[in-house]
Amino acid sequence: MAALKGRNLLSLADLTTDEITHLLAIAAQIKSGEINPQCPQKILGLVFKKASTRTRVSFSAAMYKLGGQVIDLNANLTQIGRGEPTADTARVLDRYLDVLAIRTYEQAEVEAFAHHAQIPVINALTDLEHPCQILADLLTVQEEFGSCEGLTMTYLGDGNNVAHSLILGCALVGMNVRVATPLSYEPDAAILEKAKAISQGRSEVVITNDPKAGLEGSHVLYTDVWASMGQEDFADTRIPVFEPYRINQAALELADPKVIVLHCLPAHRGEEITEEVMEGDRSRIWNQAENRMHAQQALLAEVLGAT
Ligand code: CP
Ligand code: NVA
Repeated sequence: MAALKGRNLLSLADLTTDEITHLLAIAAQIKSGEINPQCPQKILGLVFKKASTRTRVSFSAAMYKLGGQVIDLNANLTQIGRGEPTADTARVLDRYLDVLAIRTYEQAEVEAFAHHAQIPVINALTDLEHPCQILADLLTVQEEFGSCEGLTMTYLGDGNNVAHSLILGCALVGMNVRVATPLSYEPDAAILEKAKAISQGRSEVVITNDPKAGLEGSHVLYTDVWASMGQEDFADTRIPVFEPYRINQAALELADPKVIVLHCLPAHRGEEITEEVMEGDRSRIWNQAENRMHAQQALLAEVLGAT
């Protein structure tokens, strides 16, 4: 199966159930050492307009493990930071690179890069989605439970980029997803429609403002920061609104006894998650962070046609 060769990953909804299942299987095989696909001489470009530790380093490490090279196109050291039109940048980078990963604000910008470049373009986080994160998250769930299908994921907090891709990812793999946010912080309605269209009743998508409603019997509790990059000015005013949505020991006790806890990181201990839960025995957060690299190695190998 080489269905992803040459493809973009702008939204998790760009993948079918078969494709994401295949990608997760390749990631698991790469992680276990069963396969070692190689893309020598291929070059990955990174255009990151927001800070990043995990995504930047795990993409770079993944590309080096594939035998390829990475060019970091720091916006401030290129003409990107001086406002060269995306259409021009994309057409030029297309001539030098084999694959491009972009972290920026507007989803429309990654779409514009993809429109103007022939090479695969990967969304490394926008305000709307974070698809690569969810590949690693689902790999972590699969490792823990053997399969994602039929399980229940509960996300507490802001209906943000991570929540959006998580909702789509759960729908793709047949996981029930319950999202509890404060009033006015619910996920995007268009994402919910897409998720419902993908799942076609195979799994549930529940949105609630009750922080406890989604916990019972849940297999995975997930949270993310209450103020994302670009929203720092609102961080303090959000704290009292979001406090009931914190993942703490009491929340864990309402979930399934085998529940695991995930967080995409970086975390604000004492805000969206307690120190005790982060460092506790149900946390799989460090494996999850490691899995960014394995999942992205699989993704790069696939889009470069190396598997
Ligand atoms: N989870 C994640 O994307 O982390 P970074 O912002 O460090 O890349
Ligand atoms: N929602 C967070 C995720 C960081 C990986 C943000 O966009 O800042």
